[in-house]
Amino acid sequence: MIPLIQIEDIRVAYGTPPKTVLDGIDLAIQEGEFVCVLGQTGCGKSTLLRLVLGSERPSQGHILIEGREHLQPDRTRGYVPQKYSLFPDKTVLDNITFGAEVGEFSLFGCFTPRYFRLRREYRAQAMDYLRRIGLRESDAAKYPDQLSGGMQQRVAIAQALLTQPRILLMDEAFSALDPGTRQEMQRLIRELWRATGTTILFVTHNTQEALYLGTRVIVLARESPDSGSRVALDLRIPQPCHENEMPCLVRKLERVSANLPEADPQEDTIHAMR
Ligand SMILES: Nc1ncnc2c1ncn2[C@@H]1O[C@H](COP(=O)(O)OP(=O)(O)O)[C@@H](O)[C@H]1O
Ligand SMILES: [Mg+2]
Repeated sequence: MIPLIQIEDIRVAYGTPPKTVLDGIDLAIQEGEFVCVLGQTGCGKSTLLRLVLGSERPSQGHILIEGREHLQPDRTRGYVPQKYSLFPDKTVLDNITFGAEVGEFSLFGCFTPRYFRLRREYRAQAMDYLRRIGLRESDAAKYPDQLSGGMQQRVAIAQALLTQPRILLMDEAFSALDPGTRQEMQRLIRELWRATGTTILFVTHNTQEALYLGTRVIVLARESPDSGSRVALDLRIPQPCHENEMPCLVRKLERVSANLPEADPQEDTIHAMR
């Protein structure tokens, strides 16, 4: 089966003299996986996500979506950044439908019968998403500054979901939220993932979050300060993950992430069981 996302021998270097950020990254991600990407700040997690989005090109290697290179962002991939940016002068409803409408119509395609029909459909779907993300119908007419940070982030997620991307890319999308809202959002995204079968690539530097959300956790880490990050660990997470396995996995992931070599014998037993 062709993987939905194939990352082939990727290297990324910036600047002169070039500083290698990612090196020798090979990954095959199948449709429906929920992949969490962990790693320390600066190890290249956001860079990897932007490569999959198509907003950036690698210095070497290829990224294939269903076997084909997509060199620009398009509707196959939705993107939720850490700092969500809603349009302050658009209502919640207009913000949610914005991405889908812009993706579908150029300026010249507006005001045709098809435009008005699709616009009605997007609005009906947006109201459905509004309920699914836990907002009220009356919130549709509000403006972003009338919503809490957590609600704004939900709107940003609904905006990304309305375009029905096969791949959803989320870059530390919950890290600015307070702990209660963050937990709620984690539950919500798991539910939406189960219901829609969307393939998710979720960057976080929170190990617990990665283990709670992911069916697979990838750790990026550098072998030395001068080298680019590689895939230091690629772990399938048992579904459901038992509470008593969690602390052990957290320690293992954090150790690999920090590039600490020595192993804890108990962790190795669990690893060998996989
Ligand atoms: N466009 C860019 N130009 C130059 N350096 C960059 C650029 N984007 C990222 N970097 C550098 O690449 C490294 C990895 O960045 P990033 O992918 O944002 O890491 P992370 O998301 O894991 O914190 C950092 O050292 C950052 O400064
Ligand atoms: Mg980042």
